Amino acid sequence: MNLLIMGPPGAGKGTQAAEIVKELKIPHISTGDMLREAVKQGTEMGKKAKEYMDKGQLVPDEVIIGVVKERLGQPDCKVGFLLDGFPRTLPQAEALDQTLKEMGIKLDAVINIRVPREKIVDRITGRRVCRSCGDTYHVVNKPPKESGKCDKCGGELYQRSDDTAETVNKRLDVYEAQTQPLLDYYGKQGIVLDINGDQPINKVLEDILSALKKR
Ligand code: AP5
Ligand code: ZN
Repeated sequence: MNLLIMGPPGAGKGTQAAEIVKELKIPHISTGDMLREAVKQGTEMGKKAKEYMDKGQLVPDEVIIGVVKERLGQPDCKVGFLLDGFPRTLPQAEALDQTLKEMGIKLDAVINIRVPREKIVDRITGRRVCRSCGDTYHVVNKPPKESGKCDKCGGELYQRSDDTAETVNKRLDVYEAQTQPLLDYYGKQGIVLDINGDQPINKVLEDILSALKKR
């Protein structure tokens, strides 16, 4: 299946995507993870991207479109994929359509996770991520068994540099202005699955998998 997962920052896209790709055996393509990896490696793209990310702004379309296009061309995407964090602007959505057309495929569904804005700040400021494997936790909602340590690999948990209360509000504004309009774009294609993300993590996953089965 060729899928997109959308929703505001902190909606639980990454958390759900990790489970969905296990279930459907498709690759998870997260542009946020790809950019953070580039920052960690200190590549030219990473250096440029970090400035935008730390301010809660989007990196320029021309930077990210090429990266995704290249990723979709890799052989593991032949069985399908789950895109997370892309597209985020209308030009990105149009570029994606063009790329998929060239590949002779289409999107099957857009999973849209809805969470009220007032819940998001707590989720983001409480998030902790494993430095080694990228597994995501929350100090209250999904605490690790041992404080500060990843359950999966024992790696150190850290707080993303864009997960501050000030940056979250900026990211939410950017989402509402630039990304939310894409729901109309995909709504017109009749492929949006609306999911209530303001429920326990397992229940959100259950709802997503059952919505995918029904379509
Ligand atoms: P990106 O990494 O994509 O960040 P985002 O969209 O802001 O989303 P998040 O990763 O913050 O949240 P999420 O929805 O994955 O939530 P999570 O599952 O972790 O992008 C970062 C930056 O990169 C952007 O600001 C931009 O600068 C740049 N960028 C990336 N893609 C780009 C693009 N295409 N174009 C331009 N720029 C781009 O969950 C959050 C927390 O809540 C966790 O602690 C989790 O444990 C907890 N949680 C999850 N689900 C629940 C639940 N149901 N109940 C309670 N707690 C929950
Ligand atoms: Zn880990």
